[in-house]
Amino acid sequence: MKKGNRNIGQSAEFRSLFVDLVKDIYWAEKHLAKGMRKMEKAAANPELAAAFAGLVEESKGQIERLEEVFGLLGRRPQGKRCEAMAGLVAEAEEAVENTPAGTFARDAGLIMAAQKAGHYEIATYGTLRYFAEMMGEKEIAKVLGATLKEERRADDLLSYLTDVRAYEAVAAE
Ligand SMILES: [Fe+2]
Repeated sequence: MKKGNRNIGQSAEFRSLFVDLVKDIYWAEKHLAKGMRKMEKAAANPELAAAFAGLVEESKGQIERLEEVFGLLGRRPQGKRCEAMAGLVAEAEEAVENTPAGTFARDAGLIMAAQKAGHYEIATYGTLRYFAEMMGEKEIAKVLGATLKEERRADDLLSYLTDVRAYEAVAAE
């Protein structure tokens, strides 16, 4: 690979890898949305359940944005099983199995799983946006950037709910 090559993002194999990565996150978003519906039902704290419900709603827009990305790539939306997200959602299910209902331990396990999944998404959208810029796909980069912003906000919200003091304040209401 030559340094300073301005056409670095223009190769067919790079574009094809990019399409594959978009298929991966498309599947991952849908799978996480399903998992998060279950997490919403399993949460002890209503505030946390509401946060999960909000994230499920938000993910609908993120899925639509990915469909827009497929359109901009001249492709039909198609998912490809993402083993990482399958594992992260399985961890959330494990957290539910390993904790009694209605406890802080249950919610702590759920928050942990949700944040791991969220960080996977942040890493994916951040790198995909960068790749889109390398490909000269400004519109795709913009669309991915919008979701990246939302994913970071979701992470902040979950971080706030992890704080035991915030949790206690909410639980006491
Ligand atoms: Fe997402």
